[in-house]
Formats: sequence, C-alpha cells, structure tokens
Amino acid sequence: MRVISDTGEMAASCGNAVRPLGLVPTMGALHEGHLSLVRRAKAENATAAATIFVNPTQFGPGEDLAAYPRDLPRDLDLLAGEGVDLVFTPTQESLYPAGFATWVEVGEIGEKLEGAVRPGHFRGVATVVCKLLSIVRPDRAYFGQKDGQQTAVIKQLTRDLDLGPEIIVCPTIRESDGLALSSRNAYLTPEQRQAAPVVYQALSALESAWKSGTTSVPELRERALEVLRSEPSVEGVDYVAVVDPNGFHELDTALPGAMALTAVRIGGVRLIDNVVLG
Ligand code: PAJ
Repeated sequence: MRVISDTGEMAASCGNAVRPLGLVPTMGALHEGHLSLVRRAKAENATAAATIFVNPTQFGPGEDLAAYPRDLPRDLDLLAGEGVDLVFTPTQESLYPAGFATWVEVGEIGEKLEGAVRPGHFRGVATVVCKLLSIVRPDRAYFGQKDGQQTAVIKQLTRDLDLGPEIIVCPTIRESDGLALSSRNAYLTPEQRQAAPVVYQALSALESAWKSGTTSVPELRERALEVLRSEPSVEGVDYVAVVDPNGFHELDTALPGAMALTAVRIGGVRLIDNVVLG
C-alpha cells in the first residue's frame, strides 16, 4: 500500500494505476461503515484507493473540527488489512493553499435539511469531493447511504461538472442495536450511547407505519417524533423529513423509494440517519 500526501504524486500514481480504479473518500477515524465501502471498491476494481482528510471547509464555526477523532496509524493499518493500493493523506495547506478562492455550490439540494442546519456544509463537501475526484480521476467512487443528502449532493455535482465517475451508494452499516456507525458516536457517554438507538427506532416506526398503509408525511413524522419524545436524552430534533431521493424535495405523500431522514441531538452530539421506504 502506498501512502501519498503530495497532490501531484497522487495524481500521477492514479494516472498510472491499473484500471478500473475505485475511490473511497473519508475523514478517517475508520469504522466498519467505511470498511464496507473499501471492501466493495476492492472487490469491483483492479485498483482501490482511499483518501483520509478532515476537511475543514465542511465544518461550521462552532462545530467539532478540532475535536474530530484522528488516528492515522490505526486507519492506515485497517486500510492495509483490506488490501487498499493507494491512500491519499493531503495536508490542509496543500488542498487549501493561500489564495484558494473557488467553491462548488450545488444549489437548492445543498440548502435544505442538513444544509439549513449547517450553512455552508455542503459547499465544503462538494468542493473537497470535486477536488479529490479531479486528483484521483476514479472510474467509481463509493459513498454511504448513511449520509443520504450527501450522496444526492455528490451525484448532482458529478453530473453537473461532468466529472465522470460512477457514484456508488452502499448500505448503512449498523450496530446490533440499530445505531448507524459514525465516527461521532465516539463522543457519546455510556448513557447517551444507550439512548442513541432511538434514532433508528424512530425511523423504523415511521417505516412500519408506511408499510401498514400510512402515506401522509405529517402522520409519518408524528410516528417518528412520538418515539423520539419517549427518550429523555433526546435534547432536540432538527428535522424529520420525507423526500424524493433525487431532488431532495420534501413530500406530503410518501411514495415507494422516498427517503425518510432525521437529525437528532443527544447530549450535544448530533446524530443523523435515514431509511429508504419500499
Ligand atoms: P466520513 O464521515 O469519514 O465518511 C466517509 C464515507 O463513509 C461517507 O461516504 C459516509 O457516508 C460513509 N459512512 C459513514 N458511516 C457509514 C455507515 N455507518 N455505513 C455506511 N457508510 C458509512 O462523509 C465524509 O466523511 C466526508 O463528508 C467526505 C465525503 C469524505 C468529504 O469530506
């Protein structure tokens, strides 16, 4: 496995790599969710590449950039264990040198839900993903369903800017109690960790109401909120929404294929999750 921090060297190594090349962009602090993407990239491509970069531009002013978990040696061991060929570990200065001024805005899709609660978040995600795809030029890039709106943003920018790779969305990996794996789960105290499966339980209650024939989104939302209200550790619910998975327009009636999403605050930790209905 080659670990490369220089942008030009990464571009050259990817240019010379045996094709097809599959890329998994990450911010490190790797867990089984990330590794499921890596395994898929490895299985489907002749060359598997990953990037580890805690992207400062997708964090808002009061957010957890400084506290974000980092453990590069452990991450590299895990990637080597999966047989990854190339790992890109750029510095902040190399991706955002002095004078950096160009941003990728994805329009409406990046302004609602997560984008409304975290202004500028998707601009930062879209910009860094555009840069990583331009450096690596993969044939396929792998992202997790866990970050449902992020996958829609990335599909939009890849299409709009003719970046080329196929965007492959992989299923959400969960703990046995339903909690979606996330690097941010490390922030939860033991009591908060015990409460955290309520997020998926709320989405599951919404999903079973839908399967029993309820299609009205206000009613479905209420089902999820009832479950969230029953857990005293839930300090706030940023949204429960049902959207069409392409344009991310909020729906009044949940059709098959719609995505139900929520963002919940438990003890200052924001947890997001989603399920696809159908
Ligand atoms: P990060 O949070 O490190 O996630 C990297 C990839 O792993 C994303 O595509 C994310 O959706 C996926 N992932 C995280 N948890 C998962 C889970 N439980 N099951 C399946 N996949 C999961 O998302 C980012 O980094 C950044 O925004 C990035 C795209 C790298 C741009 O900076």
